[in-house]
Amino acid sequence: MPTYLVTGSSRGIGLEYCRQLQQRGDEVIAVCRSVTDEIKSLNVETIAGIDITSDEAVAKLTQQVGDRPLDVLINNAGIVERFGLTDLNLDSIRRQFEANAIGTLRVIRALLNNLKNGSKIAIMTSRMGSIEDNTSGNSYGYRMSKVAVSMAGKSLSLDLKPRGISVAILHPGLVQTRMTNFTNSGITPETSVKGLLDRIDELTLENTGTFWHANGEILPW
Ligand SMILES: NC(=O)c1ccc[n+]([C@@H]2O[C@H](COP(=O)([O-])OP(=O)(O)OC[C@H]3O[C@@H](n4cnc5c(N)ncnc54)[C@H](OP(=O)(O)O)[C@@H]3O)[C@@H](O)[C@H]2O)c1
Repeated sequence: MPTYLVTGSSRGIGLEYCRQLQQRGDEVIAVCRSVTDEIKSLNVETIAGIDITSDEAVAKLTQQVGDRPLDVLINNAGIVERFGLTDLNLDSIRRQFEANAIGTLRVIRALLNNLKNGSKIAIMTSRMGSIEDNTSGNSYGYRMSKVAVSMAGKSLSLDLKPRGISVAILHPGLVQTRMTNFTNSGITPETSVKGLLDRIDELTLENTGTFWHANGEILPW
């Protein structure tokens, strides 16, 4: 039974990843800052108290995972803070870099020894981190931090290919979660994660480093 580790599992897309993986019979390690009733009700293994912006917390994560091999590491934890040019907030930009870009890379580095030949890494970036697709401006911190994490994913795909580890850089679509204030124009977490898991299932060393929409479309950088 393959083992999947999911960060940001307390709610939203991360919670739904855990739900669908458990339903199809995979082993799930749900990593979160605080355990929610929803994640508790899934009865999956939970590692709580892991803020991905903290070296100490992520060292604790390495310790708790131990030497267990991971088949798939899903880096899903992330934040959005919406500030534009007129209310530019540099501290907010730093916070989003810390969580979305540096935090993601910190977790991957911490668990690299648990990945083996054939393992996969999924990185939840955003279409808002596509430079070519940016037609509306704004959201400086979110956009910049997601470009950064996408770039990390591309480098990882090249650096880890010789070790047989593949990397998917994924956009979930516009999804009805707390991050989007459960927008009516979004798709449900169920639909998004179904597509995301299809992409992860199809990930190989041949297509490693691709930037995909959950629906299978290849997105421009
Ligand atoms: N929803 C969308 O339309 C959309 C679109 C594009 C990309 N994405 C990306 O998809 C991912 C999941 O988004 P979502 O919509 O499910 O968001 P969400 O409902 O806001 O959930 C975010 C998750 O990340 C966790 N998290 C945030 N900061 C963290 C930190 N410092 N350390 C550990 N965990 C942290 C949260 O934990 P707490 O409960 O402890 O806060 C929560 O579990 C994010 O990376 C997001 O950028 C979402």
